[in-house]
Amino acid sequence: MKEVFVSILVLLVLVSDAKATNSNAETFLPCLRFRTGPEHPIYTPDNSTFVSTYLSYTKNKRCSNPNNNNLIAIIAAKHESHVQATLVCAKINGIQIRIRSGGHDYEGLSYISSVPFVILDMNNLRSITVDVSNKKAWVEAGATLGELYTKISEASKTLAFPAGTCPTVGAGGHIAGGGFGNLIRKYGLTVDHVVDAKLVDVDGNILDRSSMGEDLFWAIRGSGGASFGVILSWKLNLVEVPETLTVFKVNKSLEQGVTDVLYKWQHVSSKLPRELFLSASPGITKGAKSSEKTIAVTFSAMFLGSAKNLIAILDENLPELGIKREDCNEMSWIDTVTFWAGFSVGTPTSVLLERPLVPPGTFFKSKSDYVKKPIPKEGMDKIFKTMLQFNDVWMDWSPYGGVMEEIPANATAFPHRKGNLYKVQYFATWTDADATDANLGLMKELYEVAEPYVSSNPREAFLNYRDMDVGRNPSGETSVEEAKIYGTKYFLGNFEKLMDVKAKYDPYNFFRYEQSIPPLRIM
Ligand SMILES: Cc1cc2nc3c(=O)[nH]c(=O)nc-3n(C[C@H](O)[C@H](O)[C@H](O)COP(=O)(O)OP(=O)(O)OC[C@H]3O[C@@H](n4cnc5c(N)ncnc54)[C@H](O)[C@@H]3O)c2cc1C
Ligand SMILES: *[C@@H]1O[C@H](CO)[C@@H](O)[C@H](O)[C@H]1NC(C)=O
Ligand SMILES: *[C@@H]1O[C@H](CO)[C@@H](O)[C@H](O)[C@H]1NC(C)=O
Ligand SMILES: *[C@@H]1O[C@H](CO)[C@@H](O)[C@H](O)[C@H]1NC(C)=O
Repeated sequence: MKEVFVSILVLLVLVSDAKATNSNAETFLPCLRFRTGPEHPIYTPDNSTFVSTYLSYTKNKRCSNPNNNNLIAIIAAKHESHVQATLVCAKINGIQIRIRSGGHDYEGLSYISSVPFVILDMNNLRSITVDVSNKKAWVEAGATLGELYTKISEASKTLAFPAGTCPTVGAGGHIAGGGFGNLIRKYGLTVDHVVDAKLVDVDGNILDRSSMGEDLFWAIRGSGGASFGVILSWKLNLVEVPETLTVFKVNKSLEQGVTDVLYKWQHVSSKLPRELFLSASPGITKGAKSSEKTIAVTFSAMFLGSAKNLIAILDENLPELGIKREDCNEMSWIDTVTFWAGFSVGTPTSVLLERPLVPPGTFFKSKSDYVKKPIPKEGMDKIFKTMLQFNDVWMDWSPYGGVMEEIPANATAFPHRKGNLYKVQYFATWTDADATDANLGLMKELYEVAEPYVSSNPREAFLNYRDMDVGRNPSGETSVEEAKIYGTKYFLGNFEKLMDVKAKYDPYNFFRYEQSIPPLRIM
């Protein structure tokens, strides 16, 4: 009898030990159910749609893992009060949250963690209102860029919004991270057109620009947002575009002499009239023989004007590209959005509203750089040679200049402004899990090969192209020293102010994740 008692006791101790990490979850869920009421939007692993709810907004198969035992629940907020309740219950119970709007984070930071956590999913909060006479719009965090662009174009043929080119990206994360698109040379970044925001702070208060304070409003424009609170919605300043714009996409391969064209492009692309954005994307393509690979560079143009004027500008500045009238397509702004999203000319713009709620199809890894002086031709050759080792890789070289030269680096939290010729994005994709290590290794190599030609001390990186290689903390802890490594690359001279603002509004570091901003009083 005594022996039985002892072994039951041992068993009890073991069980309670094993459950120690989940005990907070057991009090978290009732807290949340109580505060959200009967329509509670809570998915736990017991719910039949838990896995599909997880997968629908996980863009990168490399990071997506619905079987993560640390994931306690997904809360798909239907109302602002659900956001407030999630924060309050998570804070009381010491549970981390990951805020997810469109789920496009390159490293999956909106849906992964190695400590117990919940996903606060914003996708149901997606309303958009456009005020044409004041040229303003409110967009909720869970709306996609495609939905925003569509609403604007339904309201006006000559209003637009400068943001990214991928229609399924979420307004929540995209705008908080800076927001880069093809109107950058004329109008700057997305954050340069944010005039107000609604945010839930660490105490569950709903704040707007006037009640949150200018320093916090400054911080959420470029820092990624998730270190400071949950963004409910953004108020945007819309910009003017002509009724007819011109786009084209042409390519040239190494064999067609693209190295010389791209070399010249490096000198002129940031100095062209700011109505013209001409990007260059080197990528792998089939060579002359089907067994061979080569590099082709795709040049894509976004021009706020007619084909005739575009051709005149290129004849003067980059005749080597050989653009002809038949390469150019004149169209409305919303059609340029469809074109830049990769659809062929004439595709109905309704594709911009699609939310393909399917498991992620591909694995990918991305990195970024800023280039301040032209890369010599031998450097370009080395980069291309390294690219040829991949199965599928491309780069985007996106020109700066224009208004980016005029906006001070500290105007918002996003710092990469003056003095950049162009931004580089590296992007490798694969479909077989076994190819992951090889691709990650090749990406490191490509990044090393490019090092002599790009920004240094620090080697700058773009937050929206999230990259864990530039520094990271474990999920549950924040070391200030480690944070300085990635923080300086993402935010340059703005990092100290960001840590200071963090210390003021979230002094106990509730909003923390692998690349969050630590609280540190400086000023
Ligand atoms: C196919 C593709 C194309 C892209 N094209 C562009 C482009 O053209 N230009 C560009 O600049 N970027 C581009 N990106 C990058 C994209 O802008 C970022 O990944 C952005 O963070 C995605 O926002 P999201 O809401 O979809 O992502 P999520 O994964 O939901 O969130 C990203 C980050 O923001 C935080 N966050 C999300 N919502 C909120 C919120 N409501 N409040 C506080 N924090 C929040 C998350 O916690 C996470 O840290 C692209 C990405 C992909 C996958
Ligand atoms: C999840 O399952 C529970 C228990 O069956 C149910 O009460 C709840 O409504 C489900 N949640 C959702 C969001 O469907
Ligand atoms: C390059 O352009 C040609 C002609 O328009 C097209 O057929 C081909 O698919 C393009 N190649 C790449 C790599 O984009
Ligand atoms: C940016 O820096 C300048 C010069 O130090 C300063 O005058 C200005 O107030 C700063 N702007 C912001 C928004 O912090």
